[in-house]
Amino acid sequence: MKIKRVLKWSFFVILVVLVVWLFIAYWTSTNDYNRYTTIPTNPMKAIVNCEYGVDNLKLQEIGKPTPKDNEVLVRVRAASINPVDGHLLRGALLMRPITGLRKPKNTRFGGDFAGVVEAVGKNVTTFKPGDEVFGGKRGAVADYICVPADRAAVLKPANVTFEQAGSVAIAGLTALQGLRDKGHIQAGQKILINGASGGVGTFAVQIAKAFGADVTGVCSTRNVDLVKSLGADRVIDYTKEDFTKTDQRYDIIYDLVGNHSFSERRNILKPNGICVLAGMGGAGLHPESWGRLFANFSAAFRSNFTPQKFVTYIAKLTKDDLNVLRDLMEAGKVAPVIDRTYKLDQTQAAVRYLEEGHAHGKVVIVME
Ligand SMILES: NC(=O)c1ccc[n+]([C@@H]2O[C@H](COP(=O)([O-])OP(=O)(O)OC[C@H]3O[C@@H](n4cnc5c(N)ncnc54)[C@H](OP(=O)(O)O)[C@@H]3O)[C@@H](O)[C@H]2O)c1
Repeated sequence: MKIKRVLKWSFFVILVVLVVWLFIAYWTSTNDYNRYTTIPTNPMKAIVNCEYGVDNLKLQEIGKPTPKDNEVLVRVRAASINPVDGHLLRGALLMRPITGLRKPKNTRFGGDFAGVVEAVGKNVTTFKPGDEVFGGKRGAVADYICVPADRAAVLKPANVTFEQAGSVAIAGLTALQGLRDKGHIQAGQKILINGASGGVGTFAVQIAKAFGADVTGVCSTRNVDLVKSLGADRVIDYTKEDFTKTDQRYDIIYDLVGNHSFSERRNILKPNGICVLAGMGGAGLHPESWGRLFANFSAAFRSNFTPQKFVTYIAKLTKDDLNVLRDLMEAGKVAPVIDRTYKLDQTQAAVRYLEEGHAHGKVVIVME
């Protein structure tokens, strides 16, 4: 009886402490918005978000950065937007313990860029002023950014524009790492790409073809020609046909949508096939997004007990893989597809468009 009472009170005290801690943590969570209230001596324009929400994306004059010893200063010419930028901006509930409980800890916006090296830190030997580069760095939607020379930037191939190169890092790496490292893609394999017309899908179709695979792309009617033009051997229009109702068997399903059940996808995989669970549909938070996210984790767990494997992953920024993408572009095997471009002061509109979830190719911000 006494032990029961002690346990009850201990639980109650822990609960109260947790609630108080959460309350204090929430209200004391802040960010560096103060640094934007003073007029910078060497100003540049950047998009910042000091509060969560698309309405709080602001064009701001902030101080132009100076490269550290291992960094390069890049004059950004183009920067693209990805679904993750919208999640960080919105402060998705599950991400808030990391991104900031009440306000975003990191107030800079964007992830991919292409531009021209303006200055290099004293230890940098791989780049020089004037080099055209592309890569990935948080805060890329700005006139200038400083980037670690050894991991976040590589030379831009001459045969792609700044707009195209600025759209590569996150989407291209996601497609490359998903197909190569998670799907273990081989020449001659049959691959189905669900969500073939979006930012990642348009890279995935071209990369899969570059690996010598036989590619079936799934998209809606208006994107059929686009996906064919990227090299897909077959295109399934999801408004007319359910890709799981078929006798076809695939070695890999590269799934950017997650709108079919575990067993429906298993039925169209070969006995040792792999379903790479890359996403949950077009950018933005939609009514079906949470269900698809949980279904992805559930499918990955359930496939521990089946010969076909379902795998989730998060793409990583690596210089080696940026160079792989660079080589594919230089060889003419991958050409980034641009849906729309926006000016820096139209970034809110760009995010809203992307988050409708129906971009065909990439949405890019172009600096003047
Ligand atoms: N794992 C990672 O590291 C990682 C990295 C980047 C992105 N992602 C995820 O991957 C997903 C795709 O990213 P993204 O950048 O490609 O997004 P996106 O550019 O917004 O994708 C839009 C595309 O999705 C297509 N789509 C929407 N519903 C579809 C359906 N039912 N069937 C087939 N296609 C459909 C749309 O085609 P229609 O207009 O024809 O419907 C549109 O072309 C997102 O969920 C994102 O969060 C994951």
